[in-house]
Amino acid sequence: MTNKRVLTGITTTGTPHLGNYVGAIRPAVNASNEPGVDAYLFLADYHALIKCHEPAQVAQSSLEIAACWLASGLNPERAHFYRQSDIPEVTELAWILNCNAAKGLMNRAHAYKAAVQANDESGEDPDFGITMGLFSYPVLMAADILIFNAHEVPVGRDQIQHVEMARDIAQRFNHNFAEVFTLPKAVVGEHVAVLRGLDGRKMSKSYGNTIPLFGTPKQLQKSINKIKTNLLEPGEPKDPDESTVFQIWAAFAGDSERERMRADFVAGIGWGEAKKQLFELVNEELAGPREVYLELMDNPKRVEDILQAGAERLRPQSSALLEQVRDAVGLRRYA
Ligand code: TRP
Repeated sequence: MTNKRVLTGITTTGTPHLGNYVGAIRPAVNASNEPGVDAYLFLADYHALIKCHEPAQVAQSSLEIAACWLASGLNPERAHFYRQSDIPEVTELAWILNCNAAKGLMNRAHAYKAAVQANDESGEDPDFGITMGLFSYPVLMAADILIFNAHEVPVGRDQIQHVEMARDIAQRFNHNFAEVFTLPKAVVGEHVAVLRGLDGRKMSKSYGNTIPLFGTPKQLQKSINKIKTNLLEPGEPKDPDESTVFQIWAAFAGDSERERMRADFVAGIGWGEAKKQLFELVNEELAGPREVYLELMDNPKRVEDILQAGAERLRPQSSALLEQVRDAVGLRRYA
């Protein structure tokens, strides 16, 4: 039996935070070690260009994120770990898919619609600041997924729509030309927490409420101390399900430790004590990876070599698929 191909991309913008780790990196790394799975994990650096037009920042984020994944236990011998822009077949496929994807479908994409709505609200022209990159972002994402005929695409809820669009695009292509593509399925981890940030909203760079993943222990402690709590005193019962401190705890603790802390909340653990324990728990998990991360950041050549090897190993697969696609649409040698 062939292995299940599980593919996911991470847009290389920003500095990775705890929410990325819990919501994306850690589950993807764990899944990549499962038997029967061929994992494809890649740096979506072309997607980064949609959001960021600062070359130095584009380059820096890409390296940081690559180092983060490797430091978080990704085994590049086992998983396919590569950079989107090192696989030229991705963009070649994206063009061909662009010629077949319906514009009406793209009009419905959340990211694009949100940008139009923001323009509406601020009285701008609806197209203000909207690039073709943003508009056709789901087509590029479809190419990422379809070039390796992924079966499953683990994503956050905000990305389900894009995976469904990829499926739609694939189906249409198979119907119109030839059965080339596997129809991908989005999978949203049941137990994967969408981590809340310092202010209690979803942890996200755009809210400025993140806890950096590989800051110094001191920075980690400082961030944790900033997590918003209520005014309940030690000894007063606290609702774990309302608390960001507990939510982050639950994302790092095993079952028994999670239940123990739940009971401590109900028994009235003080916020200071709960945060102290949270820092220790999170730091214990991150201390080892943090060291590896810092080493890799000091040795970009090592990261580069790993990514080059990753792309090289995959090119035969992406070229073969693109050959089939070219043939299917009629881009053929004359003789
Ligand atoms: N757009 C995704 C995000 O912002 C990242 C991404 C790019 C992706 N290509 C992908 C995810 C392909 C899954 C599959 O989170």
